[in-house]
Amino acid sequence: MSKYKILFKLSGSIAAYKSAYLISKLVQNDCEVQTVASEGALHFIGKATLEGLTGKQVITDTFADGEMMSHINLVKWADLTILAPASANTINKFAAGIGDNVLTSLFLAHDWSTPYLIAPAMNTWMYQHPATAESLKKLQEWGVEILPTDEGYLACGDMGKGKLLNPDDIYQIIKEKLIANELKAEDKLKVLITAGGTREKIDNIRYISNLSTGKTSSVIAQHFIDKGHDLTYLHSIDAKLPDGSYKKVEYSDFNDLNEKIKKQLKDEKYDALIHQAAISDFSLDSVQADEKTIYVPLKEKLNSDVQNLTFNLRPNFKIIDRIKKYAGDETLTVISFKFTDTESREKQVEQVNSLLKKSNSDFVVHNDFSDRGKENSQSNFGIFNDDGKIVSVKSAKELAEELEILIINKKK
Ligand SMILES: Cc1cc2nc3c(=O)[nH]c(=O)nc-3n(C[C@H](O)[C@H](O)[C@H](O)COP(=O)(O)O)c2cc1C
Repeated sequence: MSKYKILFKLSGSIAAYKSAYLISKLVQNDCEVQTVASEGALHFIGKATLEGLTGKQVITDTFADGEMMSHINLVKWADLTILAPASANTINKFAAGIGDNVLTSLFLAHDWSTPYLIAPAMNTWMYQHPATAESLKKLQEWGVEILPTDEGYLACGDMGKGKLLNPDDIYQIIKEKLIANELKAEDKLKVLITAGGTREKIDNIRYISNLSTGKTSSVIAQHFIDKGHDLTYLHSIDAKLPDGSYKKVEYSDFNDLNEKIKKQLKDEKYDALIHQAAISDFSLDSVQADEKTIYVPLKEKLNSDVQNLTFNLRPNFKIIDRIKKYAGDETLTVISFKFTDTESREKQVEQVNSLLKKSNSDFVVHNDFSDRGKENSQSNFGIFNDDGKIVSVKSAKELAEELEILIINKKK
């Protein structure tokens, strides 16, 4: 993240020390940060810390000599404003339209073309007080982004809601807001990504699965989240998850994934589906344990004393072949993945072309088992369409950038 200007307001909460870490992280990521602190905030964090971290004098006084008008210009200067920690007092003043200090006056003068974030931090009773709850609701209706609070041990010794959201999570949200604010509305995409691998259940503790970790998908998903697109991540139980705000939907086996894809595509209009989940070609039909045939679902754990065990598998259909039908939308960009395990270049291309044709995918991303690196991470991808290979990239991050461009261009 670079070049962004952040107006960082602090009010009187014991959580103010956590904002020092957040400010430092923003500065380290090339943001220009101007802090504004209430008198209350300065009981909890020193001017020296804030000035030291930002290289800028802390603004505390509306009526400081020679700076009375320059303060108001800060609302035009900032790409984003955040109040963290937000005390109950300042939140309630904001909602009442009071402008009795530099924090509240600047709020009244806020330029609503830029995001305003509030990260509450207070004791549970203060947080749940009807005045605070009403104020937060009102501020949200006015266009303020109210961040959730964490739950846990509070400085007053209580356990509960009201704890300042983890500063790393706040950082991620700031980053997303800034990028989303820059993204042109017509370029904003709604994307569904499937990730991880199916688990075909044997009994309650055993399953048949594959090597998929969801690592590549999470990198792709992270790119779309960071760029401010609207993402749904349909993932297996143990798949790697990206950070930030997006819709998560979990799947288990082939049938579950099939139903959930169908539902997503029916309920929402997506611009693209990036279908990377590794789906079992077979599901368990029945088990032959010695003389006994047991049909799925198995009611109890398979006895390990069995001498001869045979699994009867039934083939699954290819979900990817049905995507455009499920969506009922020819404009949906379908991106499928072909993972090959052959050294023959011709065979690899043959398999990619076969998938392109059968599945009616707009693009197929190809990668080979030989490109699987340490900890199952994948490198070297080729993007194919009906014209053949159109792009080669070295990493999942580059792949995400290319896919984003392809989807945006196809939408135009
Ligand atoms: C030790 C201590 C901790 C406090 N922590 C909080 C807090 O976490 N959240 C809060 O809303 N108020 C807290 N307060 C009360 C506020 O500091 C007080 O309401 C103050 O007037 C807020 O002023 P400001 O909103 O202008 O910064 C605390 C007070 C003390 C003495």
